Amino acid sequence: MPCIGGVSVPLVTLNEILPQARRDGYAVAAFNVANLETLYSVVRAARAENSPLIVQVYQRLFEDDRAELIGVMARRLAEQSDAPMALHLDHGGTLDRVKQALDIGYTSVMIDGSALPFEENIALTSQAAALAHAAGATLEAEIGHVPFGDGEVKLSDAAEAAQFARQTKVDALAVSIGTAHGFYKKAPKLDIARAAQIGQSVPIPLVLHGGTGVSDEQLLSAITCGVAKINIATELQNLFIRGAAGEIERNGDNFKPVDVYLKPVEAQLFDYARAKIRTLRR
Ligand code: 13P
Repeated sequence: MPCIGGVSVPLVTLNEILPQARRDGYAVAAFNVANLETLYSVVRAARAENSPLIVQVYQRLFEDDRAELIGVMARRLAEQSDAPMALHLDHGGTLDRVKQALDIGYTSVMIDGSALPFEENIALTSQAAALAHAAGATLEAEIGHVPFGDGEVKLSDAAEAAQFARQTKVDALAVSIGTAHGFYKKAPKLDIARAAQIGQSVPIPLVLHGGTGVSDEQLLSAITCGVAKINIATELQNLFIRGAAGEIERNGDNFKPVDVYLKPVEAQLFDYARAKIRTLRR
C-alpha cells in the first residue's frame, strides 16, 4: 500500500500524484475503465511499471451501481499495490454527481463547466472545489472546451486559465490546446506555444483530455509545458471491443467461458496500457 506521511492509504488523491509529476517532467496516464477487465488490465500495467495511476469513470456509470462497484474493485486492487492510485469521476456534469462520487469514496472528481460562460464556470467550479476539499478529495475542472467528436474546440486562454485556477482553488486544470475526445479524422496538431504560455501562468498540474490518437511526440511536448495527467478512453475501450470481436472470429462456434474468452483481450490491454505509461514517463 502506498504510504503518505507515514500512513498507509489504499487510494490517493490527485495531489499525491500530479504535483510531483509536473515537477519532475512526466505525466500520469488516466484511463477510463468500464468493467473488471479494463480496470484489471490498467492496474496490472501500472504495477508492472511501478507507476502511479489514475483510474477514471465516466459519469454515465454513476446512473446505476457500476461506478460504485468499480470503486470497490479499485480500492481492493490499490490495497495490494505499492504504487499510488487515484479513483476519479471524469466529466461530472452537476454538483449532485460530484457529491455522489465523493459519497461512494472516489478520491477525486471533475466538474465540467467548460460549456458555460467563464464566470458561471468559475462559480460552479468553486462550489465543487469546496465539496471535494471538505471530503478530503481533489477537483479537476476545465477551461476552454475540449469537444466530443466534431464539436467546436474552444482553445484555452492563458490569462483566463490563471484567473480560473486562482479563484476556484481547483487542484488540476484541463486545458484545450487542440485535442478532442474520440478518434480523429486527421491527426491533431497541438498548440504547444499556447500550452507553454498556460504552463507559465498556471502553477498547478495541467490535464490533457482526448489522449487517443495524439502522437507520442506531441504528448511529450505537452508534458514539457506542465501537462501531468493525460486522459485516454477511446483507444483503450476500442481495443477491448475489437479484441473481443477478434476472439469471436478466431473461436468460431467453440464455446469458452467469458473469463477464458477475454484473457487474450486483457493481455492486449495490458500491453497497450504498459507502453503508454512508459511513454508518458520518458
Ligand atoms: P479519448 O476518448 O479521446 O481518449 O479522451 C479521453 C478523455 O479525455 C476522457 O475524459
